[in-house]
Amino acid sequence: MADSDAAIEALSFEDRRFPPSPEFVNHALATDASMYDDATKDREAFWAKQAESLDWYDKWSTICEWNLPFAKWFVGGTLNVSVNALDRHVVAGKGDKVAFHWEGEPGDTRTITYAQMLDEVERFANVLKNLGVKRGDRVNIYMPMIPELPVAMLACTRIGAAHSVVFGGFSSEALRDRINDAEAKVLITADGGYRRGAASGLKVNVDVAVKETPTIEHVVVVRRTGQDVEWSEGRDHWWHDLMDDSALEKHCEPERMDSEDLLYLLYTSGTTAKPKGIMHTTGGYLTQVAFTHKYVFDLHEHEDIYWCAADIGWVTGHSYIVYGPLTNGATSVMYEGTPDFPDKDRWWSIIEKYRVSILYCAPTAIRTFMKWGTKYPDGHDLSTLRLLGSVGEPINPEAWVWYWNTIGGGRCPVVDTWWQTETGGIMISPLPGVTTLKPGSATHPLPGVVAELVDEAGKPVTVGGGYLTLTEPWPGMLRGIWGDPERYKETYWSRFEGRYFAGDGAKLDDEGYLWLLGRVDDVMNVSGHRVSTTEVESALVDHPTVAEAAVVGANDATTGQAIIAYVTLKAGETGDEAHGQRLREHVSVKIGPIAKPKTIVFTDDLPKTRSGKIMRRLLRDVAEGRALGDTTTLADAGVVEEIARRAATSPTEE
Ligand code: PRX
Repeated sequence: MADSDAAIEALSFEDRRFPPSPEFVNHALATDASMYDDATKDREAFWAKQAESLDWYDKWSTICEWNLPFAKWFVGGTLNVSVNALDRHVVAGKGDKVAFHWEGEPGDTRTITYAQMLDEVERFANVLKNLGVKRGDRVNIYMPMIPELPVAMLACTRIGAAHSVVFGGFSSEALRDRINDAEAKVLITADGGYRRGAASGLKVNVDVAVKETPTIEHVVVVRRTGQDVEWSEGRDHWWHDLMDDSALEKHCEPERMDSEDLLYLLYTSGTTAKPKGIMHTTGGYLTQVAFTHKYVFDLHEHEDIYWCAADIGWVTGHSYIVYGPLTNGATSVMYEGTPDFPDKDRWWSIIEKYRVSILYCAPTAIRTFMKWGTKYPDGHDLSTLRLLGSVGEPINPEAWVWYWNTIGGGRCPVVDTWWQTETGGIMISPLPGVTTLKPGSATHPLPGVVAELVDEAGKPVTVGGGYLTLTEPWPGMLRGIWGDPERYKETYWSRFEGRYFAGDGAKLDDEGYLWLLGRVDDVMNVSGHRVSTTEVESALVDHPTVAEAAVVGANDATTGQAIIAYVTLKAGETGDEAHGQRLREHVSVKIGPIAKPKTIVFTDDLPKTRSGKIMRRLLRDVAEGRALGDTTTLADAGVVEEIARRAATSPTEE
């Protein structure tokens, strides 16, 4: 861990402490250590107790079957996710309760109750059936943040099909590859969505993607923006035509799913160029997201207005916009667009309008708001807020304290939640009525979660830096990588014997608080989104003018990390600004705008060891403006000095 050692040593602990206030504790769901004690006494029984808050058709016979590294939870139990998210609330007389206050970016709104959600989900489930979707099939979803997106997901769960949601910011090629890997039959999309005041095109990307997706039989299109779209008769169908068909059955009997049936796939970047289809199953996943959503956010079902400002295209949206909140019967806000449209106070006006009490967002957003200044939040009544959450990347103490003061008015606990696509739900986080907070620390593993730091040799670390590992199975854990069980073992379970290796470095202080430090592998974290260095390198090398490329993530004050690419062009090519722009566009087309390098440094050579391995550590030193580390193993030490000189003058794109 040579690279992260420096980062670990550089980290001095923040010693400010924020115990829960008496006002918060008086009202909180959890106020003492009893859940931790229960879970320590009998971890499986603890999770079984949480599972009991769900509706099951058949109860499980075994809580957990652990055949390292393969886990099964609530074995023999059967349930349906849409029934847990919708029917049971309607049956309990809460059909008129608002599930979503939806706000479109242009200002149009929809208020959707639990009964209305259920009605739409049942009808859309029948639409899917009529299109030939069967239990066990995969359905791809590529949509903006509109209510039809959770409807589509829940409709899949109703009939036992697994969804694979692809973030709307991904390119047609990224979409194509994910569809082909999942072998989906049906693709659900929209003509476009609104972002920063303009209609973006989604159907245009779909048209390109499905030219090379042999398994797709039907494309269902929501009309959101009204823009002109190309149409393939027989393959393409308007959502509203299918839903309004008078012959459409209104009721759809839910499938009784096995606890371990596949619920969804969600693709995430790893250290190779090919994204991994992370597999989540039904009973354990739902148990964990419902439990964590309730206790980490201290959800009072009848009082709170909850807003997770992520996109459903990422795991945060799956677990904490759709599955957790609906299973808990919460009222949520869902917003389509960006925080700066029509002005930089959009979020604060949404909080004021809907009287939001719980806000969950990413540090990159907080740092952006800090940059914009306090006048935007100060112009709005944020007094309804009582709890704030953070997710996706380490939150620096400065941003934490700003969030606490400026947004939370000094009265709202800030829960910094560590987890991953693979973990399904939150793993390390304070319990807001119990834990004394330290700005920048995700504090402790939640009840039922066992995390340990280990050193290079896999030996547990009690104080100091190490690699974050998880030592016991948890209900929401990934069950594998779609189509590649070997890669599952290799990626997560081979680095340290018998342990799940998360890919993150962390430090434990002498009071047992965990401080997450970021990835220690070749995965970058840009604005809370995972991007693989290898994936960006492959996209660059795919361009006809590029001979070789190396990509690193460099610290960035706003986005956490920024993508820096070192590119060697083929003979006769000129590395000027226009060329850099063409390469950025190429990466955007191959992967999506989130993967565009901020800086491209053209160089005649890359720093390599004598055996030809690129020394990324040195490239990171250059990117972060540090003195160069040890260069003695380089084949040609002059190369890196030349790169440093060029980097200083290379154009960057904000
Ligand atoms: O490096 C960690 C970082 O995000 C990675 C997981 O990314 P993803 O699967 O896209 O899921 C993001 C949302 C759950 C982790 O390996 N990460 C996530 N939350 C935190 C974090 N790093 C530090 N602190 C966090 N609270």
